[in-house]
Amino acid sequence: MTNKPSKPINLFDVQASQKIIGQEKFLNAFQTILNHGGYAQGPECRELDAKLAAYSGVKFCNTCSSGTDALILPLMAWGVKPGDAVFVSSFTFVASAEAAAILGATPIFVDSCEDTYNMDPKDLEKAINEVKKEGKLNLKAVIAVDIFGNPADYDEIMRIAHANGMKVLSDAAQSYGSKYKGKTSGSIADMTATSFYPTKPLACYGDGGACFTNSESEDAMIKSSRVHGMSPEDHYDNVRLGLTARMDSFQAAVVLQKLTVFEKELVEREKIAKRYDTELSSYFRKQRVLDNCKSAYGLYTINCDDRDELMAYLKENGIPCGAYYPRPVHTQTAYAKWNTRSLPDCEKLSKTVLSIPMHPYLDTESMDYIINTMNAFAANKSSKAA
Ligand SMILES: Cc1ncc(COP(=O)(O)O)c(C=O)c1O
Repeated sequence: MTNKPSKPINLFDVQASQKIIGQEKFLNAFQTILNHGGYAQGPECRELDAKLAAYSGVKFCNTCSSGTDALILPLMAWGVKPGDAVFVSSFTFVASAEAAAILGATPIFVDSCEDTYNMDPKDLEKAINEVKKEGKLNLKAVIAVDIFGNPADYDEIMRIAHANGMKVLSDAAQSYGSKYKGKTSGSIADMTATSFYPTKPLACYGDGGACFTNSESEDAMIKSSRVHGMSPEDHYDNVRLGLTARMDSFQAAVVLQKLTVFEKELVEREKIAKRYDTELSSYFRKQRVLDNCKSAYGLYTINCDDRDELMAYLKENGIPCGAYYPRPVHTQTAYAKWNTRSLPDCEKLSKTVLSIPMHPYLDTESMDYIINTMNAFAANKSSKAA
């Protein structure tokens, strides 16, 4: 087996790009904000809105206070309310179901594909037919999460949603920078939300997010709802219920710096993922990326039947790893009342997935060690089975 690397291995490395970009660049940007005093939604936020809209190839980007608010704001713009059904994945972080539920809508949980880990379009269609048959809820929206950075099956999801009069919101919190059949994240679904939480592919140093749309009216609604429902003409007239969901200028300044190395980082993430794909034993099932798509590899996640044993073994050997997500959303306490459907693949994934180190600055020595250590586990299991 390869020797343990001299430096500790990180699952994410939220600080590495500080050195690459140069601390003085961040400090200068912070000094500029201290000088102009526009701390909330200042000029850095407007610059970031413009740069991200151009990067995604959409007309409008509105930065906001978190990835969760970036999901709530589009649903508010679509008028999501009690009595509406919003179709969501259960094998994901809680935010998408939460965004629907906090507006009083009913989250309808949809199963995931066992190979892509994303929303299963066939089960989406089944869930829609069940809701229609029951006749109690209004079909309103679908939230498609690009889990671990891997784009969801948008052609199918959008075809099914649109045929049923629903809009599709893409949750690109883990996938900003991914590509779906030539389109960049932000421009694929009817609207898109992303997060700049520190562990995300494009990140800030606290909380932040952004919403993307090509629609002028949706853009206007988001701008208003982000600041208490304020009228653009009269700032003392709040014309709808809203939130305090602005981005602060310091976080925007961080994302602006991170954008300067973002493309390079995506290339590095992909190189690491390709090494894992080809060099890790077939004992570990790899996440399938759809044809003509590119994952942003927010996480690199395999699945295997001995997940808990593998996790303990990797930790013992100094390799950090994490089970994302060990508890599907529909089984969590606050969501139990919406646990109405059978979701076998989602439940199986929650018991078998394991995320292993993935960040653009993972060095060759660490990668050799991770791959050899994991393959030794697989070889041991296979020889016992033979
Ligand atoms: C898939 C997904 N959606 C939404 C969010 C919410 O983002 P935030 O933490 O910025 O609110 C996250 C964050 O972890 C996420 O992973």
